[in-house]
Amino acid sequence: MPDRKPTALVTGGIGGFGLALARLLLARDFHVALADLDIERGRQVADELDVLFVPLDVGDLAANHRAVELVETHFDAVDAVFLNAGILGRQDPAVPIDMQAYEAIVSANQHGVVYGIDAAVPALRRSGGGRIVVTASLAGLVPMAGDPFYSMTKSAALAYSRAVAPTLAGQGITVTIVCPGFADTPMLGSLRPAFEQAGFPILSAEDVAKAMLLAHDEGEPGSAFVVQPGMPPTPYRFRNVPAARDAAGSHVAIPDDLSSHSTAPAPSQGS
Ligand SMILES: NC(=O)c1ccc[n+]([C@@H]2O[C@H](COP(=O)([O-])OP(=O)(O)OC[C@H]3O[C@@H](n4cnc5c(N)ncnc54)[C@H](O)[C@@H]3O)[C@@H](O)[C@H]2O)c1
Repeated sequence: MPDRKPTALVTGGIGGFGLALARLLLARDFHVALADLDIERGRQVADELDVLFVPLDVGDLAANHRAVELVETHFDAVDAVFLNAGILGRQDPAVPIDMQAYEAIVSANQHGVVYGIDAAVPALRRSGGGRIVVTASLAGLVPMAGDPFYSMTKSAALAYSRAVAPTLAGQGITVTIVCPGFADTPMLGSLRPAFEQAGFPILSAEDVAKAMLLAHDEGEPGSAFVVQPGMPPTPYRFRNVPAARDAAGSHVAIPDDLSSHSTAPAPSQGS
């Protein structure tokens, strides 16, 4: 943590998780900037919390850069960026693709993370390093049959964040991910009564916000925290893919100078 008061930017900042996180960050004495598509409510929430509001469509690369620059100018530095904006898709794969819905979800959930990281990195570097926490979902770890676009984009957010983490860690920027299960926010919407009726536990927005802070404070580069009701946020243990074998059937290590291109594990970790 820097000596000065740290600054955090949260995208999707006025939604369920964003707002709960903003409150925790304020209690920790952060400068807080909330970025969101919903400008009218954003200004209202920012007035109530006395934080900075930045209008932002996370699917717009230039707008991401402008948002980070605005926050940096306002508070002199950016130390933490929570890439949390996201939407559902709920398409039926048995009917023709709805291109508008497809493009909208890729824009918010996938471009929002790629562009958000691109915009955050220069500012975090100027601060002497920092943290990026990406909100993916359990749906990025396991297939969500009811919302394949959502599963796909959350897997992409997770995979991209894990893939950039080693390089950015070398520049003092730690990228971590949270993968929450179902949580009680406006996103859950009309599904909420069904969960209640089934007696299925759902997370509170504050549960998830605490996990986002934990990922920020303690997460190792590229670690992904599963957030589920009734258990503490837990780093997910990704299974290694089998290592390559030579003609004799022995595991082969990737040469050091090729290792950053490799998806293969070291032989000792292979199965
Ligand atoms: N609620 C859940 O059960 C749940 C579970 C796992 C992951 N998530 C993920 O957590 C994140 C936050 O979700 P939430 O539950 O707080 O939902 P929410 O709907 O309450 O909040 C999402 C916020 O993102 C904003 N937003 C949407 N598209 C945007 C865009 N293009 N640019 C900028 N802002 C945009 C919305 O205006 C809203 O304020 C999302 O990425 C969501 O996919 C939610």
